[in-house]
Amino acid sequence: MNSSMKRLLNIGALCLLLHISVVLAAKPGTSARVDALLKTMTLDEKIGQMTQVDYDAIKLNPSDIEKYALGSILWGGGSEPDNIKPQGWADICDSYQGFTQKTKMKIPLIFGIDAVHGHNNVDGAVIFPHNIGLGATRNPKIVEQIGHATAVEMQGTGIQWDFAPCVAVARNERWGRTYESFGEDPALAKELGAAFVKGMQGSRLSAKTSALACVKHFAGDGGTTNGKDQGNTEVDEATLRAIHLPGYVEGIKAGALSIMVSYSSWNGKKMHGNKYLMTDVLKKELGFRGFLVSDWAGIDQLDTASYKNAIMLSINAGLDMAMIPNAPKQKNNYVDFIAYMKELVAEGKIPVSRIDDAVRRILIVKNEMGLFEHPFRDKALLAKIGSKAHRAIGRDAVRQSLVVLKNEKNILPLSKKLKNVIVAGKGADDIGMQCGGWTISWQGKSGNVLSGGTTILQAIKHTVSKNTEVTYSADGSGATGADAAIVVVGEEPYAEMIGDRADLHLSKNDVDVIEKLKATGIPVVVVLLSGRPIIITDVIKDSHAFVAAWLPGTEGQGVADVLFGDYKPTGKLPHTWPKDMTQIPISAGDKKSEPLFPYGFGLSY
Ligand code: BGC
Ligand code: BGC
Repeated sequence: MNSSMKRLLNIGALCLLLHISVVLAAKPGTSARVDALLKTMTLDEKIGQMTQVDYDAIKLNPSDIEKYALGSILWGGGSEPDNIKPQGWADICDSYQGFTQKTKMKIPLIFGIDAVHGHNNVDGAVIFPHNIGLGATRNPKIVEQIGHATAVEMQGTGIQWDFAPCVAVARNERWGRTYESFGEDPALAKELGAAFVKGMQGSRLSAKTSALACVKHFAGDGGTTNGKDQGNTEVDEATLRAIHLPGYVEGIKAGALSIMVSYSSWNGKKMHGNKYLMTDVLKKELGFRGFLVSDWAGIDQLDTASYKNAIMLSINAGLDMAMIPNAPKQKNNYVDFIAYMKELVAEGKIPVSRIDDAVRRILIVKNEMGLFEHPFRDKALLAKIGSKAHRAIGRDAVRQSLVVLKNEKNILPLSKKLKNVIVAGKGADDIGMQCGGWTISWQGKSGNVLSGGTTILQAIKHTVSKNTEVTYSADGSGATGADAAIVVVGEEPYAEMIGDRADLHLSKNDVDVIEKLKATGIPVVVVLLSGRPIIITDVIKDSHAFVAAWLPGTEGQGVADVLFGDYKPTGKLPHTWPKDMTQIPISAGDKKSEPLFPYGFGLSY
């Protein structure tokens, strides 16, 4: 063999070696780093990775992050640092991540939060429309942009994991989480959920401007009987797969590497213990290679008499990480969880192979996120929170989300040159109400809950000509002689558990304001702020124009853009709009009586 032949052979061998190592590195579920970690980790360290503790509990003993080598910290809807401005959140993340650097394995924490319409717990962040409004846009592009902007704002505070998108398919408007769903049609959850995942995770998950998405709540959360939150979804498997699973199938395809399990039950069996759906369907059949996190104390509900048994049932069913709100000495706290996990493994009730599988999944995701390379935040991103560019995305989303339901004699768009406009209704100058639940606090609140943003009244004032007089009167008095009235009414903020309603009529106060204005004989434009279709069959007759604005968030300018013609409405109903309570539940394709407006309805100019 001459030397050039030898050289060729050597190159051939090198190529083969390279090829093998590339294949090994690329094979889903394996990574040299993760294998090496798993080989050296003790059982305690593995259990630590599977433990996610709420901020309100860990803040009492932050050094427990190091002591128990915890894997994750979250902020639930009710937990927040004392300083809720961006810097306050960033400081906590920096200091907590510091504890992991003192552990033997130095595995970084992953911080999780419900940034379900922007980085909504942070004062100064842009609040985007809730998902129901995004469903009305029918536009995956804008949803992808929102996902990306939200990831950037989260990373600005050092938080890298979003408990979103919610791909619930809300089938009953009584449900208080209807607004967290993109709409009644699984096609919306599929397309828009996947778009959100793409925007949030970016083209490279390890980029500092990307964050991990978490598709939730698996599965059937929007299909419970009577729309009861955390209730029972009573459908056969074919229906479950057709309506409630497509959001996950598409989310996984889009690259989602975490999924949250639902509090709800499927035909009487709680999802947190459903091995068939969690392991056989999700992980095996659908090839989900990320990890499954529980909902807030979701395991606990499996056996209220024995936490230990509940833990065993859920972990063996396929749960990988437990979300634990409680502090030591409280019921079912994280120290108990860790102790019971150790006992269960020692007793052979949870196989070591199950622990290894869970930890491998968690570490693979942390590794792909680049957390080992950059556990700490990129300080430059803090300035992006609430940026002009993000507000512009919000405004664009708002205008695309508005659905015009009525426009008698084409009174919309209103002229910017009207002499005087009266603005009325409790929602017209209320940033808290236009944001809805999951805004600064868990349930949200009316009033000046945050800084930044534009109320609808402010937006109207910015839009009309200098000579137009805009008067605000919450109850609609003093309207006689005005050229037009814009009335903003609707639901006050609520969230899960509290938001279920047996009666969805517009409140009497709201109806009174509309009727008072109608009596003056001037044109009346109603803007409805709501997390779902509301019963408006009578009151819509008292208006000349009627616009469903959902829960638009901080960028109220988008509402004025539609009212005054800077944007021609394109929004389409993401829900069939019922005539009365007896029609609920009603969805497109049901052979029921005529709804007030069909699914997909929406006028334009
Ligand atoms: C909700 C989840 C949320 C979690 C953490 C639960 O009560 O159901 O949607 O992600 O709390 O705040
Ligand atoms: C959490 C929710 C939880 C609720 C009720 C809130 O603080 O964020 O996720 O469901 O408390 O316990």
